[in-house]
Amino acid sequence: MNKKDLQRIVSEVEQENSLFSKKSSLDTFSTSRIIGRDAQTRELVKMFLGYRQGLVVPFVSVYGRSGGGKSTIVRFVCENLDDVRHCFVNLRKAKTVFGCANLILAELGEPNLKNAQGINLAMEKMGDSIEELLQQSGKKMFVLVLDELDALFLDKRGKPSDFIYKLVSLEEKLYEKGLLMCIVGVSNNVMTEFDLDDRVRSRIGSSEVFFEAYAKKDVLAILEDRAREAFSKPVDPAVMEYCAAMSSTEHGDARRAIDLLRVAAEIASVTSDHLEKSHVDQASQRLQKDRTGLILSTASHQFKLVCSALARVTLLSKESWHSTSMIYKQYQMVLGDDVRELTYRRVSELLMEMQNTGLAVSQTLSKGRHGYGTQYRLAVSPETIGIACFPDWWNDLEKRKGAFDAKRRTGNSPGIFGGGRGFAAMRKMTQNMQKKSWEEFSGFD
Ligand SMILES: Nc1ncnc2c1ncn2[C@@H]1O[C@H](COP(=O)(O)OP(=O)(O)OP(=O)(O)O)[C@@H](O)[C@H]1O
Ligand SMILES: [Mg+2]
Repeated sequence: MNKKDLQRIVSEVEQENSLFSKKSSLDTFSTSRIIGRDAQTRELVKMFLGYRQGLVVPFVSVYGRSGGGKSTIVRFVCENLDDVRHCFVNLRKAKTVFGCANLILAELGEPNLKNAQGINLAMEKMGDSIEELLQQSGKKMFVLVLDELDALFLDKRGKPSDFIYKLVSLEEKLYEKGLLMCIVGVSNNVMTEFDLDDRVRSRIGSSEVFFEAYAKKDVLAILEDRAREAFSKPVDPAVMEYCAAMSSTEHGDARRAIDLLRVAAEIASVTSDHLEKSHVDQASQRLQKDRTGLILSTASHQFKLVCSALARVTLLSKESWHSTSMIYKQYQMVLGDDVRELTYRRVSELLMEMQNTGLAVSQTLSKGRHGYGTQYRLAVSPETIGIACFPDWWNDLEKRKGAFDAKRRTGNSPGIFGGGRGFAAMRKMTQNMQKKSWEEFSGFD
């Protein structure tokens, strides 16, 4: 390569960037403007400022699906209320309950403690620090935001419930001194779903703020706001609509919607001077594949089995929504002899985790006098899941389904596979399958 070649590459890159005027507007790490979410903001303000009417809320559970703007809005409200001094910690950065305590201390500007010094000393230091911060700032209310609270409950040995109890007791001690504090737990699931002692449950109360998944009009408003700054010329409104519709039906996650628009524009910039629907389709496929691969590369074997169960039933039934009991049945079918079978409850938890990571979405249906039931639908294609989990198993399943379908179409003749390589194996497989009924193969009643 010589300098001329380099110059050519530079101009090609510049050409590709010409679609963008300020690409950083499609960044999801920063938010220059919040669009909507008035109801949730109002709820938070009511809870933080309730003390003015004599009501102090000790604990607020902020919950909802990923990318719903929970962290962004909680942070924004805390930073912009004059009465509030706050401390925001992301508990995902800690591996243990003691690590969480140290994170809070660090955020308060205190030195970290060693495990041996004990959690009680950590709580004392926290209390002193909060007292000092409130007195120095002259603010009325201290808000401790525990973002990604579910991470705390992964350390079962560290007694997460006790830790919450200690934090609430700290609030009570401060209250006796005339100092006000509120804890905000932010997570995908509501606080009451976590494993908490009754004494903690009764103390934290039931103040909740729910962030529902974004509907199409919300996603569109967020995307339009970003696009106005990001692109050098206006994007076709039909393409924006298409992007918003795809994001809202698949997940309702603003982060992923913005990513979709950015990747579509990156793909467009290589071959075109404007953004089209086909670029959005290509971006969606690429993002699904990348995302699924990333999540499943570090997932447990059991999690992959549950994902595969949902992928299997989606492929075989042509329906998209499936009940937990049907998925459990499929899970039992994909389970090998050498793998321990999980309980129904645990599989339900793993399905919730699928939802939290964005691989599935759920809906709750009333079953009349039998209460409520949850159904799940894959948010990515079943092939993407199957291939990322167990490629050989998936390819075999698709082949067997293909053979079943062919057998159904043409009666019992295995001749449809024609001659050539693999014919004998296929014929044997078809003969084997003829002994089995579809019900047995699919697991449907
Ligand atoms: N109402 C909104 N207005 C503008 N941008 C938004 C809005 N909601 C979300 N976003 C964008 O989406 C990104 C993700 O939002 P955020 O991190 O607040 O979601 P979250 O609900 O905390 O998700 P998670 O459960 O994954 O932590 C934000 O960084 C922001 O860029
Ligand atoms: Mg968040």
